Amino acid sequence: MLKTPIIIINCKTYRGCVGKKAVEFAKVCDKVAKETKASIAVAVSAPDIFSVSRAVKIPVLAQHIDDSEFGSNTGNILAEVVKENGAVGTLLNHSEKRIPKKAIEGAVKRAKECGLAVVICAKDDDEGKELAGFKPDFIAVEPPELIGGDISVSTAQPELIKGSVRKIGKNVLVGAGVKTTEDVKVAVKLGSVGILVASGVTKAKDPEKALKELVKGLSN
Ligand code: G3P
Repeated sequence: MLKTPIIIINCKTYRGCVGKKAVEFAKVCDKVAKETKASIAVAVSAPDIFSVSRAVKIPVLAQHIDDSEFGSNTGNILAEVVKENGAVGTLLNHSEKRIPKKAIEGAVKRAKECGLAVVICAKDDDEGKELAGFKPDFIAVEPPELIGGDISVSTAQPELIKGSVRKIGKNVLVGAGVKTTEDVKVAVKLGSVGILVASGVTKAKDPEKALKELVKGLSN
C-alpha cells in the first residue's frame, strides 16, 4: 500500500493545500510521482479526502482518525468513513494533534479493522519505541521544536535518526524542517525508510520543483 522509500507530504491546513487547492496541490504531487516513479503520498485534511483521492493515483492518507465507532460521536472521524472516501491510511498522534496513548491504541485497532495503513508520529526515539508496541506500519519521529523551521532533523539531529532506527527497527520515517535533497539523503542513509514533510513542499514557491529536489535524495 505504501511502498518505501517514501515521501509523505502532510498538507496540514496550509492555505495552498486545503479545499479546492488540495486537489491542485495533490495533482502536482501525483505528477512528480508519475514522472520520477518515486513513492509519494499525501496526508490531507479530512474534508478533502474524497475530492483528492478521486483526482490522483498516489496514496491519500487522513491526518487523524478517532478511536470511535458509528454512533453518537459528534465531530469524530471514523476509520470506515475515511476509507470509504478514498484514504488508504492515516497519520496518528501528529505533534499538532497529540492524543493519549489509550486513544492511539484504539485508533490503531480501528484503522486495522478497516484495512488502513497507520503512521504513528512520535516526538523522539524513546516515544517511538514505546508506540511501536501498537504495531503500526510506520513510526514517524519528528522533533517538535524543528517542525516548520529551516533547520532539518537531518542537520540538527542525525543522532536521533540513527537512534530511532536502532531502537524502533526498520519502518522508521523522520521529519521536521526537511527541505533539501541532502536532508532526505542523510535521513535515508542513516536508515529511515522515508520522510514526513510539510512546509518544504506546501509552502514552496514552486512545490513541483521542491518535491523533485526531495525525490532526488531517495536514491542515494
Ligand atoms: O508532518 C510533517 C511535519 O510535522 C513536518 O513539518 O514543515 O517541518 O516539514 P515541516
